[in-house]
Amino acid sequence: MILLIFFTILIVYLFMSTRRRPNELPGPFKWPIVGNLPQIAQVNWSRVWHAVDHYAKIYGEIYGMYFGPRYVVVLSDPKVVHELMKRDEWNGRPHDHMAKIKGDGAVLGIIMTDGDLWKETRRFSLRHLRDFGYGRSNMETSVMDEVQNVVDRLDKQIGNEEQVLSFESTFGPAVLSTLWNMVASIRTELDDPDILRLQRIVKETLQRRAFGAGIFWSFQSLRHLFPQGSGFAQQIEGFNILKENMRKVITEHKKTRVPGEPRDFIDAYLEEHENNPENPYFFVNRYSSVAPIVTPHALTETVTYKGYEIPKGALVFINTWGIHRNKDHWGDPDTFRPERFLDKNGKVVTNDEWLLPFGSGKRRCPGEPLAKTSVFLMVSNLLQKFSFSTVPGEPRPSPIPVIGLNLAPLTYRAESRKRKI
Ligand code: HEM
Repeated sequence: MILLIFFTILIVYLFMSTRRRPNELPGPFKWPIVGNLPQIAQVNWSRVWHAVDHYAKIYGEIYGMYFGPRYVVVLSDPKVVHELMKRDEWNGRPHDHMAKIKGDGAVLGIIMTDGDLWKETRRFSLRHLRDFGYGRSNMETSVMDEVQNVVDRLDKQIGNEEQVLSFESTFGPAVLSTLWNMVASIRTELDDPDILRLQRIVKETLQRRAFGAGIFWSFQSLRHLFPQGSGFAQQIEGFNILKENMRKVITEHKKTRVPGEPRDFIDAYLEEHENNPENPYFFVNRYSSVAPIVTPHALTETVTYKGYEIPKGALVFINTWGIHRNKDHWGDPDTFRPERFLDKNGKVVTNDEWLLPFGSGKRRCPGEPLAKTSVFLMVSNLLQKFSFSTVPGEPRPSPIPVIGLNLAPLTYRAESRKRKI
């Protein structure tokens, strides 16, 4: 009898859990417990953003899906993205365990905070980074110095012959150097073993927290049962190493700084902290990212949008991958045709609302000036001096990305030679 009651309750519960709430956004049928994971697996389990975009083509510009118990709202129309990303309530972040690991139990920094703490930290960081050259013309000079280092190194490696070179960790330390110099007055060498190690740890740690990492992203509590298999243990270890390194740099700053004469961002931060002990500022720490879905946002309150009710805490994915590959807008999205960004007078079109690699609105990437300057100077200077091609007899570099917080290329090799000038 007890068993019968138990099973009846279970069946009623399972049935109820498939029902949609009144005024819920459209979306695929929701299975008990696993939500839409079966439908995601059906399209592409390891590249979740393909599945997210697949259902956007069925359910439209804004729809909802369940990653297990996690409810996610997917935005796939740039107009909707630009409109909603201007509003505070759409610009929260999920306060999941990963956000807390980084700040020893508290959510700190820019990337994972929201509300007043995020606003203040972001404002403070950008203001003080500008004092040390961020976004100013001398930043370009500093990036150019680093680009020159990469050019010199390739020049030496190639010599007078044509060489097959492997491109791994070639650009990271160069881009990091400019930022790190403003933050900590440290210029990093291209082959500094500590920096290369840290870069590898950041990459591996972020890869392990990716939403593409599947079941453990959806059911976060499983990390306690499978600390190794879920990557949780490795994430903690990775973040601990990064924090330890940061601590060393900060301790050194505390010892050598002169009050009133900040040398860099860390000094400015320490000074602010000293004058304002209640102020829990923390500083920026992020590698470049090419985000297929954009770091998830979370709704800070329940909202009504076009008659749909979306609950507080819902995660928000911006389907950048789909927007950047929309056939109706781009025509031939997979063709390399840079002239698509030129108008009929040959001027670069900078305001295409379908192009949002840096996000939109209040949380738009603050790294954009550094990222754009670095990519432009690096690519133009390398191509002026060298030419690169595929290696005969080897497959072309894979377009399949390595998944992390961002998408990154797999290590690739290219036949590299100097241009004859
Ligand atoms: C090509 C390179 C880059 C791309 C495509 C990129 C893209 C993005 C995107 C899409 C976001 C998420 C926006 C959102 O949540 O709505 C973001 C956030 C962020 N990016 Fe970048 N980024 C790049 C480089 C950088 C660099 C070099 C830095 C450091 C200087 C940086 C610092 C940040 C920070 C701190 C955030 C969090 C902003 C916030 O949550 O308020 N990014 N980036």
